[in-house]
Amino acid sequence: MTEPILVTGATGNTGAPVVSGLRSRGCVVRAATRRPDPGDGDAVRFDWFDPSTFAAALAGVRSIYLVAPAGVADPAPVVRPFLEQAAADGVRRVVALSSSAVARGEPLLGEIHTMVVDLFSEPTVLRPSWFMQNFTRDHALAEGIRRSREIVTATGDGRLGFIDAADIAAVAVEALVAERPVGVELVLTGPEALSYGQAAAIVSDVAGTPVRHVDVTTAELADRLTRAGLTGEFAASLAALDERVRAGEQNLVTTTVHDVTGRRPTSLREFLAVHRACLA
Ligand SMILES: NC(=O)c1ccc[n+]([C@@H]2O[C@H](COP(=O)([O-])OP(=O)(O)OC[C@H]3O[C@@H](n4cnc5c(N)ncnc54)[C@H](OP(=O)(O)O)[C@@H]3O)[C@@H](O)[C@H]2O)c1
Repeated sequence: MTEPILVTGATGNTGAPVVSGLRSRGCVVRAATRRPDPGDGDAVRFDWFDPSTFAAALAGVRSIYLVAPAGVADPAPVVRPFLEQAAADGVRRVVALSSSAVARGEPLLGEIHTMVVDLFSEPTVLRPSWFMQNFTRDHALAEGIRRSREIVTATGDGRLGFIDAADIAAVAVEALVAERPVGVELVLTGPEALSYGQAAAIVSDVAGTPVRHVDVTTAELADRLTRAGLTGEFAASLAALDERVRAGEQNLVTTTVHDVTGRRPTSLREFLAVHRACLA
């Protein structure tokens, strides 16, 4: 494939392994972020909030991996002009990252889901469960583990199918390179659905020190997230997702990672064992 594939969020949890996965398949990849790697001749500076960066990112592109700006209460007004320009430029295939907790048409990522399906002839929207990387990287949950040996959520005993971002990326790579689109909407999970209490027990085992789950109300969680630096609106929308977990809506396991890639998705215990150093 000689036409470049544009990967937005190219330094992120899913974008980085999408870039490496595509390159290992021989694709030309245009890695787009605000701080492109100077050592990567195919990287491009791209900023969602600077539309003057869109044209260079889109030049000659027919396929895009789309990670909407994170941490923004309403990404749709920023993403729409970019997608409209992409469609006008002849982009056919867009593989977009959404969430298992957000259905098509719902606020935030659900609106982008609708745009992608409406604007492109070969849309695939990935709807993964919560990332395992939340336990190990620069996420509030990981910081809580490192700082106070606590996992604070508003999920009660609700379960969810934690997934390794590398498994999401493997699906994205297949969706980008497959001759025929692999599907319009794919709900992705890891191999099991766990409550945060069960996850905390696994974290404790792997870390070799007790880590407890602290269940708070949705309002308390939103308040904590706001105090941690998120905008009030974004904190409220994240906390509201926990309520869905508490209600049992996210208690699901799909076989999609294996169906699309042929690989067995990583379990939380396997993931944490590899990233054990990040729990300290
Ligand atoms: N975490 C979860 O459990 C979970 C679950 C389901 C869905 N999701 C969704 O997954 C998406 C990604 O979340 P994440 O936490 O994994 O983030 P991420 O992809 O690890 O990081 C965000 C990426 O976007 C880039 N970026 C940020 N601001 C940008 C801007 N203004 N212009 C251009 N690029 C920008 C960053 O690169 P630079 O900083 O280098 O520009 C980085 O590569 C979010 O939409 C989230 O809602 C997350």
